[in-house]
Amino acid sequence: MHIDRLEGLFLWLAAGMLLLFAGAVVISVFGMGIQLPSIVDTVNPTTLRQEAGFDRPGIREIYEGRYEVYMVVSQFSFDPKSIEVPVGSRVTFYLSSTDVIHGFKVFDTNVNIMVIPGQISEVTHTFDEPGDYQFYCHEYCGSGHHNMQGVVHVVEASDE
Ligand code: CUA
Repeated sequence: MHIDRLEGLFLWLAAGMLLLFAGAVVISVFGMGIQLPSIVDTVNPTTLRQEAGFDRPGIREIYEGRYEVYMVVSQFSFDPKSIEVPVGSRVTFYLSSTDVIHGFKVFDTNVNIMVIPGQISEVTHTFDEPGDYQFYCHEYCGSGHHNMQGVVHVVEASDE
């Protein structure tokens, strides 16, 4: 079969681009730790505050440098709305809503997730730089939407 020289060139170019994009995905997932937020479980939104984890919203240290946060999201607040971790901490957030769809976006990070009634959303982030990381709701959820915000305080370990 005869393949024209230019046609062959474009075939190789297309194959090269496929490899490049596949490589970019592999590097972002395994090299940079960028992940898609995932839905871990379903839950009854009307009894969310009685469900395991969500019955005591807040931050817990699992082991040194590793934390989990259970957060109840509802019109128009995050519970908890303020957490504090030492710099370098890896934090897994579990979120769910008691009413409508909300959003959870932590400024200056890749944490950006929808919070859907009936579902538990999970996202993990390592806070490598000290500072105050504001988070806020980015899904319009009603008249108090603009008031839904909070903050992750990332402090130097010596400040503990
Ligand atoms: Cu909650 Cu917008």
